[in-house]
Amino acid sequence: MTHLFVTGTDTGVGKTVVAALLAQNWPQAHYWKPIQCGIEPMSDREAVARMTGLPPERLLAEAYRLRMPQSPHVAAAAEGITITRARLLPPPAADGPIVAEGAGGVLVPLNAGETMLDLMAGLAWPVVVVARTQLGTINHTLLTLQALRWRGLRVAALVLNGEAVATTTATLRARAGGARVFELPRLERLEPAALRAAFSAHLGRWPLG
Ligand SMILES: Nc1ncnc2c1ncn2[C@@H]1O[C@H](COP(=O)(O)OP(=O)(O)OP(=O)(O)O)[C@@H](O)[C@H]1O
Ligand SMILES: [Mg+2]
Repeated sequence: MTHLFVTGTDTGVGKTVVAALLAQNWPQAHYWKPIQCGIEPMSDREAVARMTGLPPERLLAEAYRLRMPQSPHVAAAAEGITITRARLLPPPAADGPIVAEGAGGVLVPLNAGETMLDLMAGLAWPVVVVARTQLGTINHTLLTLQALRWRGLRVAALVLNGEAVATTTATLRARAGGARVFELPRLERLEPAALRAAFSAHLGRWPLG
């Protein structure tokens, strides 16, 4: 069984929306946010529940659920704890693929010495990178891809989220080193039927075929 890890070029780029699309439409898939920083007005797990209509058993519990909407190392310190990799193992109960969502981007610190990339390298799951389409994204995206490959991670797909820019898509397709590149437009409604329609319209049958 293959799992996927959804990361992004930044915070707020659409990782949760992309992870929701995958978890909803990949049979038996589970959504998992290992480290949640910021739970008001809702956690990403709660957002995915709303968007997808998935039952609670397909929404795995976070390993860390921290109140502060800050980098994990800061949010953890604010609660007097240190994030450890030993607590970041995937939940064993999952009887289907897991779609995990990172916090922020790849070099976000987890603690004094480790980053999100260390967690991803430990899991070694194929990675989905979500990027914006605005000016500046080519640089952010290629830096992210380079960091992932430097740690030996396979980039399964790149999702360009937002109004598509043809030259950006073409440039990244040419430089994505074999990753599939998808364009995901802004969706009017983030609710279950709209997500199912968006999945077939924009992601096709991937990651199924
Ligand atoms: N394709 C889209 N269509 C409509 N709204 C979108 C789309 N992508 C993202 N959004 C909205 O943009 C905001 C940021 O997206 P999202 O929460 O998915 O980012 P993120 O990368 O998961 O952020 P974080 O780093 O906090 O986890 C959310 O309000 C989300 O609903
Ligand atoms: Mg998110």
